[in-house]
Amino acid sequence: MIFGRVKSLDAILATAEKKSLQRTLGAFQLTMLGIGAIIGTGIFVLTAEAAQKAGPGMMWSFVVAGLVCAVAALCYSELASMVPVSGSAYTYTYAVMGELLAWMVGWALILEYAVAASAVSVGWSGYFVGLLQSWGIELPHALVVGPYAGGVVNLPALVIALLVTALLMIGTTESARVNAVLVAIKVTALTVFIGLTLPVLNGANFEPFTPNGWFGDGHGAGLGVIGAAASIFFAYVGFDAVSTAAEETKNPQRNVPIGLIASLGICTIFYLLVAAGAIGTLGAQPVAGPNGEILQPGTTALAAQCQAFADLGREPLVCSREALAHVLREIGWERIGDMIGIAAFLALPSVILIMLFGQTRIFFVMARDGLLPEKLATIHPKWKTPHIVTMITGVAVSFFAAFLPVGQLADISNSGTLFAFFMVAIAVLILRRTQPNRHRPFRTPMVWLVAPLAIVGTVGLYVNLPFDAKMVLPVWGALGLFVYFLYGYRKSHVGRGIIEVHEDDPDAPPQPVPPAPSFKD
Ligand code: ALA
Repeated sequence: MIFGRVKSLDAILATAEKKSLQRTLGAFQLTMLGIGAIIGTGIFVLTAEAAQKAGPGMMWSFVVAGLVCAVAALCYSELASMVPVSGSAYTYTYAVMGELLAWMVGWALILEYAVAASAVSVGWSGYFVGLLQSWGIELPHALVVGPYAGGVVNLPALVIALLVTALLMIGTTESARVNAVLVAIKVTALTVFIGLTLPVLNGANFEPFTPNGWFGDGHGAGLGVIGAAASIFFAYVGFDAVSTAAEETKNPQRNVPIGLIASLGICTIFYLLVAAGAIGTLGAQPVAGPNGEILQPGTTALAAQCQAFADLGREPLVCSREALAHVLREIGWERIGDMIGIAAFLALPSVILIMLFGQTRIFFVMARDGLLPEKLATIHPKWKTPHIVTMITGVAVSFFAAFLPVGQLADISNSGTLFAFFMVAIAVLILRRTQPNRHRPFRTPMVWLVAPLAIVGTVGLYVNLPFDAKMVLPVWGALGLFVYFLYGYRKSHVGRGIIEVHEDDPDAPPQPVPPAPSFKD
């Protein structure tokens, strides 16, 4: 019975205790880590997509997506404080719902982290190209966007993804200090943006507030306030990076929940103010097609319409690939717009790095459990990094970054993330029932309200993703099942009754133990 293949919480905790990772992070560093992973392409770039989907109503989208993340974060916190080990949602699911579902969550997290890295690469490319343009350097259109917008390949996105991969392969991890500097740059950029736009808001720009209604109002899935929320959810992704650092945290019971909630709260406030500034100055009404039809972001139809505007010397918010810099340039702050561009140029690669790093961690833990070939996670003798898995991931990430639009990538990443959050919310509830007396350093408040809200919220956002992005999850899931039964099912350490001792002593052979009766398949 594969659902019986549960890795016991005690075993997971024992493994963690044996590990020699130093516990150095406190609540402040964790919050910085969270903000470092959260603020990125979502607010810097996808604000334009959100405007196309929801118009000024995207302010509600930020609130809705933020709330879904908040309830999910409260669930994450309970598990992260009970099981303060690497692997986040994958590990929790393994302990609570068994190997098959854990595998599916781990598989979905690949979608979250790797595709998010692609999306942020494309976002970075938009700012890089805009910055060059502002300085009078025009790169050929064919080389700066994919076929979806009349180009051939997004070369800057491809190059940045490969560069970050190379850095990770030779062992670059971002030090807390570098992260702190980059967080300061991002926060300063957003603060300057807010400071320059809020005083000159034009109330008329907020009308009509929800031009596409809440659900697209017949214009198709993925539009309206909730459709935009499903996309803009991407802007909050990354807060779970805090929980993956639980093993390196002092007093994780207290500090992990603080880090999660604080980073999420701070970012939500920034996002709302930035959105208000962009809407109130440049306006955020969606661009309609020649027959008044609502156009989906990332389509050739919208690209053509934007080109028509460009020929008239205009660039509405929704057409910009560097939304925040564009807004400031349009309201007369040319050079400060460039500074915002430079801030994005400097800070976004670190988001790519965090996402790619998260990806290798997940692969690593899955390989450690025997669900992926350990060869994949081979450590390079000199660089001391899992170079093979990093390279394979990096090449895939670069490929998608080269050819797909940022919004579509973000939506695909969201579908994986939403699934993982959904499972975490269920895991919290199951664990409350099955192990009510286990020590819970952090208890999700009103769990029977909060966890169901997280479940409803994640499902609600998922069904409002555009059709393509929605379909990726089941297709990817089916592929995952295939791989599991081909490989992990037979090789799983839990399935084979192997206790891992290699964290304590890397040279000790795995020790087989007789499988518990319920492990017999
Ligand atoms: N939340 C991160 C971003 O917006 C992934 O780029």
